Amino acid sequence: MLEKFNSITSQGQFTPMDTTGVILFPGADGGAEWGGAALDPRDGVMYVNANEMAWIIKMKEVGDGSEGSSVGQSLAQIHCARCHGGDLQGLNGIPELQNVKLRLETDSIKTIIQKGRGAMPGMPNLSEEETNAITEFLVGMEEAKDHRVENTKIEVPYSISSFARFKDDRGFPVVKPPWGTLNAIDLNTGEYLWTVPLGHEESLDDPNNPVSGLENYGGPVVTKGGVLFIAATKDEKIRAFHMKTGKKLWEDQLSSGGYATPITYQVDGKQYVVISCGGGKMGTPSGDEYRAYALE
Ligand code: HEC
Repeated sequence: MLEKFNSITSQGQFTPMDTTGVILFPGADGGAEWGGAALDPRDGVMYVNANEMAWIIKMKEVGDGSEGSSVGQSLAQIHCARCHGGDLQGLNGIPELQNVKLRLETDSIKTIIQKGRGAMPGMPNLSEEETNAITEFLVGMEEAKDHRVENTKIEVPYSISSFARFKDDRGFPVVKPPWGTLNAIDLNTGEYLWTVPLGHEESLDDPNNPVSGLENYGGPVVTKGGVLFIAATKDEKIRAFHMKTGKKLWEDQLSSGGYATPITYQVDGKQYVVISCGGGKMGTPSGDEYRAYALE
């Protein structure tokens, strides 16, 4: 790991990205998690979960479409490589595109580019010519048709070719745990009121000593009763915390990861907490359950 660390750029915060690879810390998915924070307006305390995860982010020079590399290839590097990988070889569970012509018809590829599919956003910002150029590059038709794109302006000299978590050979992050925390911050003062590790996992090194604080996706919800609910963690559990102290009050095992923000609502005087268990991130299995909890 040290060898790898020494081979990439690490010069502290705000280091510009380069073509050797730069350490991004915290990573592309937090610091503060994309699930968002929860706020109690009565006392101005914000509750937010966070990740402590180093990533390596790397750029690649983009051809200008004139020599060697084609317009379609350059456009694919700008618009597709950051998710599908620098050589479109697939990345972080996102499918490869090098052999996509064996799986999909040309028209299906165009439709996916324009409208998106699943977790892939549509790209209505691309002109039809640009979409055609990318598609023809992907299906290998480009040269045969000597396709020219007149009104594309490739002004981007570099594009992101890869970004991935910096992990060791066993799949553990290269920084010390906790890799995930839950925090209460007083917005009146900016002070942290408490920070606790979020989630637990067996340790390979010492089975009696689980790792505290796991990578997490999805936010917390707070209640008037002073209890915070959050799932989010890779151990596929949902938990309740005391909002004043950060003490864990309860936890339950989900059918798959609750990588979402819980909702709470009341029907006929009974309060429910619901979490969507979609799973499927961080190497955990996918699921399709909504789970609802209520007290008698
Ligand atoms: C923000 C990330 C992202 C970007 C950018 C992106 N994709 Fe995707 N792409 C995905 C994901 C995620 C999937 C898997 C979608 C699913 O759930 O089926 C996917 C799937 C695809 C598929 C279907 C592959 C298959 O085997 O079924 C094609 C084709 C595709 N993308 C083409 C492109 C092209 C071309 C570009 C650039 C113009 C692009 N994508 C840019 C994330 C991305």
